[in-house]
Amino acid sequence: MTERIVILGGGIFGPATGKSELLGVLLEDGRISAVAKDIVVDGAREIDAKGLIVAPGFVDLHTHLREPGLEYKEDIASGTRAAARGGFTTVCAMPNTEPAMDNASIVEHVRREADARAAVRVLPIGAVSKGRKGTDLAEMGDLAAAGCVAFSDDGAPVYDATLMRRALEYANGLGLAIIDHCEDPSLAHDAVMHEGWVSTRLGLRGAPSAAEGAAVARDIALAEATGAHVHIAHVSTRGAIEAIRAGKARGVRVTAEVTPHHLTLTDELVAFGAHGGWDLMYDTNAKVNPPLRSADDVEACVAGLADGTIDCIATDHAPHAVIEKLCEFDDAAFGISGLETAFGLCMRLVHEQKISLETLIERLTIGPVRALGLDRFAPGIGTLDVGAPADFVLLDPDAEWVVDAASFASKGKNTPIDGVALKGAVVATYVGGVRVDRAEVLVG
Ligand code: NCD
Repeated sequence: MTERIVILGGGIFGPATGKSELLGVLLEDGRISAVAKDIVVDGAREIDAKGLIVAPGFVDLHTHLREPGLEYKEDIASGTRAAARGGFTTVCAMPNTEPAMDNASIVEHVRREADARAAVRVLPIGAVSKGRKGTDLAEMGDLAAAGCVAFSDDGAPVYDATLMRRALEYANGLGLAIIDHCEDPSLAHDAVMHEGWVSTRLGLRGAPSAAEGAAVARDIALAEATGAHVHIAHVSTRGAIEAIRAGKARGVRVTAEVTPHHLTLTDELVAFGAHGGWDLMYDTNAKVNPPLRSADDVEACVAGLADGTIDCIATDHAPHAVIEKLCEFDDAAFGISGLETAFGLCMRLVHEQKISLETLIERLTIGPVRALGLDRFAPGIGTLDVGAPADFVLLDPDAEWVVDAASFASKGKNTPIDGVALKGAVVATYVGGVRVDRAEVLVG
């Protein structure tokens, strides 16, 4: 029997119109079958969305699910539950697993496990090089045939320019992008934070912004030379954004993402913590790659997101075990567990009137889908179009809540904003018309 669900009373946000309107949405058998003003359907189950925004489910191009091999940090079940709580209905899984996702059998394993245990859609990203070592190309054709939606050695840059050139050429033939973690290791080696006055005062080794800018400039030159598509992961510096803006203006096939933390937090967090006290000095939860940058870089990230130079927001959800953060700053792992705080953190930009709610939702939904052409793999995601899968979120832009890392669905409790009040919450997340989050995520 056809299951029919009707969502009533919400402000429906369709990125196609870019506007929020009061409409009803009818879902039938896990797909959207109508979006219209006066929907009345006898016998349909009703979802009351009064006072809420109904938007397409968010799509994350950059999630570390850690499976296979690093399940002590995260696994497909816990990571996708965290995604669901954060409003993400599709996540792209990064290949820095153990072993690396550099061959078809690992991709098949991840897809099979995701089919069995994931709360949201999982799209795998294959490694560029064997073992992510940066020396020999992975079997990119096999990876594409196994269902990879892009290639990346994320966690490490593709340092060798000739290898990157070849990777771009192969990826282009396969119709896929290379996602590069842009960092020149000869400039950034051994760095544990951003190079600036904070690193000097703390006595920590810093990575200059130029380490990112130089790598982005090289990638743009290679994308231009090959005609291939390069996607810049977690962009964080003004110089990189200016290079991307100029590249796009010349017609280079370059797209980019930015994380919620690089849009809202600075390197001062390493010195002062989120609550401005001594107890969180040298907060290892603020240690992330690329590092939290200067206020000027944050401003450039926001401007780049607003004007479309940066195509989308991606979390770079990087969960780690407690012992990997409860140690000296030098020894701590890089990464922030970001899926569950992404929307609330980004809503700061909306409340501070730096970007509109429409832009924010666009950059979390259809923005990432367009950036990598994900519609080919999961038609209709990122939209509320008729015929699309019923992947949607109910959002309360004004709900106030306090981040409580201990209650995260993610195994990674590593966030530098634990205890911080946020305004803007994901109330419920549905995949294929089925609710996949749990409401207790909201505290206070
Ligand atoms: C990422 C991780 O832990 O996988 N960490 C991070 O700080 N972003 C990988 C990486 O990009 O270094």
